[in-house]
Amino acid sequence: MPSWSTIEKILARLEADDIMPQYQPMLIGEAVDWSALPVEVDPTGGLMDGLRAQRKRWQVENVIRVLQDLIQPGDVIVDFGASSGNLGLPVAACFPDCHVYIVDKKPHTVEIAKMRMAGSGLSNVELYPGFVQEVTIPFEIGLGLHLCGDGTDQAQTLCMERGVPYVMAPCCIGFIQRSPLSYPRSTAFRNVLDRQEYNWLASVADWTCRDETSEQHQRGKRCMGFVNTDRNLVAEEQGYRTALYTMDPSDASPKNEIMAGRKKEPDDAVSD
Ligand SMILES: C[S@@+](CC[C@H](N)C(=O)[O-])C[C@H]1O[C@@H](n2cnc3c(N)ncnc32)[C@H](O)[C@@H]1O
Repeated sequence: MPSWSTIEKILARLEADDIMPQYQPMLIGEAVDWSALPVEVDPTGGLMDGLRAQRKRWQVENVIRVLQDLIQPGDVIVDFGASSGNLGLPVAACFPDCHVYIVDKKPHTVEIAKMRMAGSGLSNVELYPGFVQEVTIPFEIGLGLHLCGDGTDQAQTLCMERGVPYVMAPCCIGFIQRSPLSYPRSTAFRNVLDRQEYNWLASVADWTCRDETSEQHQRGKRCMGFVNTDRNLVAEEQGYRTALYTMDPSDASPKNEIMAGRKKEPDDAVSD
């Protein structure tokens, strides 16, 4: 890994090209009333405990706030990298007229989701075990909460191929160094830096930690914002309107960013 000053020079080159993370304030949506939902869908309901469960609640609430702006009655929603259903199950419970698919490559986590589904009594959620890339069903919105490494890019790509909105809170960004996908994702970034330099940014993006005041966290957060900006830019290059948020509270997770996009509509051009 090069020194931080080398990383800063790479970031400065992006900034000189007017590329930098532009955060929007987190949306104020209807709060999730956990007490009205089946206990099996609540992260604090058994699988996790204490602050970890509370943080997962906050993460889910933030994704739902962004989702509320995009969702239409009757939508089919896919929760990519759903694991035991921490996001997909509350989404199904909060939007009973929508249908949610739980996608995960790990059979044992999908089994836990199955038990939670059965206990919850929800009838609008279905399992779809397998890899993101294997999803062939039609859907209207793609979600991903802490879908690791290039899983986020695979899911976002699938959404863009279908022209549907995405809401993704990425994690383990450094894993993309091993990905066969092409990075940087966007032409805007590719014009400024190469894959090796991008891999360094991805690596530093994983430095975010619980101590938000630490230099380590702040450097990680800076690089995380740039990588997620690259991901949103590739969507913009494909006709999407995008947004980048930091979860509220920001200590909901060290991986506290949410990127969202939806295809531009004809009226969007007026406000651009
Ligand atoms: C960190 S967990 C997050 C689980 C859940 N979304 C949450 O926030 O509690 C990431 C999950 O994504 C799954 N995953 C990663 N890459 C995937 C891929 N390409 N296809 C399907 N699942 C994937 C992993 O198996 C894992 O269960």
